[in-house]
Amino acid sequence: MELYTISALSKYYERWNMRLRKKDEIHVIKNLNLTISDNEFVCIIGKSGAGKTTLLKMLGGIEKPSTGSILYTNMELYKCPEVKMEEYRRKEIGFIFQDYKLLDEMTIQENILIPQILDGAKRETAESKVEEMTKQLDIYCKKNFYPYELSGGEKQRAAICRALINDPKVILADEPTGNLDSFNTELILNLLIQIKAELKKTIILVTHDKDICKYADRVMEMETGRIKEIHV
Ligand SMILES: Nc1ncnc2c1ncn2[C@@H]1O[C@H](COP(=O)(O)OP(=O)(O)OP(=O)(O)O)[C@@H](O)[C@H]1O
Ligand SMILES: [Mg+2]
Repeated sequence: MELYTISALSKYYERWNMRLRKKDEIHVIKNLNLTISDNEFVCIIGKSGAGKTTLLKMLGGIEKPSTGSILYTNMELYKCPEVKMEEYRRKEIGFIFQDYKLLDEMTIQENILIPQILDGAKRETAESKVEEMTKQLDIYCKKNFYPYELSGGEKQRAAICRALINDPKVILADEPTGNLDSFNTELILNLLIQIKAELKKTIILVTHDKDICKYADRVMEMETGRIKEIHV
């Protein structure tokens, strides 16, 4: 089943060109067409500035395309009512970032709880979910620690718990291993493969690192806003 149907997607930013004293349009995504199936692990590879993060943000419902459409199952993102978009962001998507984006002033448990609290879950149920997940991802003993007290690999595992806690269908990962050594890179990628296989998630991962492609079912390459499938 197709989960995403992306058609003629473009994104451009307008900015003032001081030298020419006129508005410039920067085209970041150019007429992009792509379908992503349910339970697929897609890796999108590309150099810095290729438009990977922009595409991921558009898929995540946080960056409105300039033109074109993103169909998620039967819902057209950005064209549906805002309540639907909020629900999509809260329930269907989990984000993982290169720099983890854990809140420093909160413990690991509190960080992981955030999506549940935003979703109005009962504290008790939410806490038992955190317990189960942190055990599975082997950071249970760190749940009352603060992010600065964890290693990079542990922080990313905490961020994965946070991304999974609302049981989303899709994990959007932006260079999730960019700050990790090779041991933790392999650990996190194997974890993502396990999450795909056992929890039936769809994973869309963007990276500039070709070595990561071998973990994916399908590899797409982005270059200056355009995309094509490659075989690695
Ligand atoms: N808000 C913005 N205004 C103007 N230009 C932007 C904006 N956001 C992104 N861009 C431009 O869009 C291009 C693509 O950015 P994007 O962050 O998607 O690249 P990327 O492929 O994720 O790169 P990296 O690997 O370095 O993270 C860049 O040239 C960037 O300068
Ligand atoms: Mg990026």
